[in-house]
Amino acid sequence: MTNVPYSLANLERIQSELRTSPRLLYIDGDFRAAATGETLAVINPATEQVFAEVAAGGVVDIDMAVNAARRAFDDGRWSGQSPAQRSRMLLKLADLMEAQAEDLALIESLDNGMSFMVAKHGGVMGAAAQLRYFAGSASNLNGETIRPATWPGEWHAFTTREPVGVVGAITPWNFPLAMAVAKLAPALAAGCTVVLKPAEQTPLTALKLGELVAAAGIPSGVVNIVPGLGAVAGAALVNHPLVNKISFTGSTAVGQTIVREVSTTLKRVALELGGKSPTIIFPDADLGRAIPAAAMSIFGNCGQVCAAGSRLFAHERIFNQVCEGVVARARSLRIGDGLEPGAEIGPVVSQKQLDRVMGYINLGIQEGATILVGGKRINRRGYFVQPTVLGSVTAAMRVVREEVFGPVLCVMSFNDDDIDVLAAKANDTDYGLSSSIWTRDITVAHRLARRLKAGTVRINGGGPPDPAMPLGGYKMSGWGRENGREGLEAYTEIKCISIAL
Ligand code: NAI
Ligand code: MG
Repeated sequence: MTNVPYSLANLERIQSELRTSPRLLYIDGDFRAAATGETLAVINPATEQVFAEVAAGGVVDIDMAVNAARRAFDDGRWSGQSPAQRSRMLLKLADLMEAQAEDLALIESLDNGMSFMVAKHGGVMGAAAQLRYFAGSASNLNGETIRPATWPGEWHAFTTREPVGVVGAITPWNFPLAMAVAKLAPALAAGCTVVLKPAEQTPLTALKLGELVAAAGIPSGVVNIVPGLGAVAGAALVNHPLVNKISFTGSTAVGQTIVREVSTTLKRVALELGGKSPTIIFPDADLGRAIPAAAMSIFGNCGQVCAAGSRLFAHERIFNQVCEGVVARARSLRIGDGLEPGAEIGPVVSQKQLDRVMGYINLGIQEGATILVGGKRINRRGYFVQPTVLGSVTAAMRVVREEVFGPVLCVMSFNDDDIDVLAAKANDTDYGLSSSIWTRDITVAHRLARRLKAGTVRINGGGPPDPAMPLGGYKMSGWGRENGREGLEAYTEIKCISIAL
C-alpha cells in the first residue's frame, strides 16, 4: 500500500507486538493474565484473521478489579484530591492520547475494521476532546442552597454532590475507544473509580488506554480494565455487591437483563441502548446537504451507530430525488479494509453481526420490501456488506421496527401537511434515541422537534457526539443521559444537609 495516512513501520511494529504476546488485564495498576489463564482470540473483521489474543477476564478477575476500585474509592486517593488535581490528570491523559493518536487509531482499525481516519479523528481526537470537556467540569459539581425551607423556624439547607462510588462500565464494539472514554471521563471527573469491561470483539484500545492512564499519573486502582465475555465478566460486574453503579452501552436485550439483575441490590444504572432513528426531509430542504447527510447517517461506520438514521421519511414531492440521491451515494461509497487509503466504510464487526445484518435484509425481502441498492454480502474476504436501501416498506415490517445495526436504510414517503400525523409516523417505534429534520422553515422545524419522542433532534445537520450535549434515549433507547451537565451529574449522589439555626 502506498500513500497511506500513517507510518507503515508503525503498523508493522504494532502488529508484531500484538502477535508476540497476549494483551493483559489492567487491575490495580498492574497488567496481569486472567486467573484462569484463559485468552480470547481477537479477529480483524476486514481479514477474518486472528491477529491478537487478550486475557479473558472472569469472575475472579472482576472481583479483584472491583476490590481494587473499592479500596481506591474508599481511601480517597482519587475522590479526596481536589477537582483541579483531577482535572490536571485528565488533561494529561488527553494529551497522551493525542500524542499516541496514530497508534490508537491503527489498533482500533485492526480490531473493529473502521476506517483509520474515522478511528483517528472521530475516535481518538473525539475522546481527547471529551476528556478535556469533563476535566473542566470537575470543578463545577456544585449543589444548591435551599432557601427558604417550608419547615417553620430558621434553617440553612443545601445540597452537595458526591461521587457515586465504584462504577462498572460496560461498553460495545462499534466505537470502542470513544465508548470507553465516554464513561471514564465523567466518572473520573466526578471522583468515581472504575472497572471497565470492554466488548470481547474489540478489547485492544481500552487496554492501551490503561497504559496511558498509568502514565497520566492516575493512581493505581482508580481505573481497572477487564476484557472478557459479556455473560461471564459483564455479568460478574453487574452482580458484584461492591459496585455502586453500572453504566452500560449496548443492546436493549442486555440492558433489560441488567435491570433485572440489579433489582436485588438496586445499584444505579445508566443505559444507552439501541435506536431506529428517523430522518425527515421536507421539500424546501437544502437537498444538496440533506441527501448525503441522510446517507452517511446510516452508512457511516457501516451502520453500527446507536443514533444511525435508519428510517428515512421524504416528502412525496422530493421522494424520488431523495431515493436516487441516497442510492447514488451508496454506490459511490468506497468500501474496504479500514487501513486502505480512502476507505470510507469498513466491514461489520463480526461473523455474528454479518449474519444478523444479512438476516434482516432477507427478512425485509420476505416481508415485501424491494431492494433499491445493495442487499448482498460483498464477495471478498472480510465481513463486508453492500450499503443497502429498502423501498416499498411499511411501518409494520420487522426490518422497519427493529434495530439492524448495519448499513440498511428503509425509505418511506409522507404526503400530508399535518405535522401531528408526520410526528406519529416518526414516533411509531419502541425506540427514541435520535432524529433529524431537514427544512428551511423554522416554524415547521420547531413544531416537529417538539413532537418527536427522542433524546436528540438535529435540525439541518449534526456531527459526532458533542461532549457538551446530553445524549440518551426516550422509551426503550435507555435510561439517563451521557455528556453535558447531566452526564456528569449521573455519576453523583445528591445529599441534602439541613441545619436548625
Ligand atoms: P451486547 O449488548 O451483547 O454487547 C454490549 C456489551 O455488553 C459488551 O461489552 C458485552 O460483552 C456486554 N454484555 C453482553 N451480555 C452481557 C450480560 N449478560 N451482562 C453484562 N454485560 C453483557 O451487544 P451485541 O450482542 O454485541 O450486539 C447485538 C446488537 O446490540 C447489535 O446488533 C445492535 O443492535 C445492538 N448494539 C447497540 C449498541 C449501541 O451503541 N447502542 C452497541 C452494540 C450493540
Ligand atoms: Mg451479545
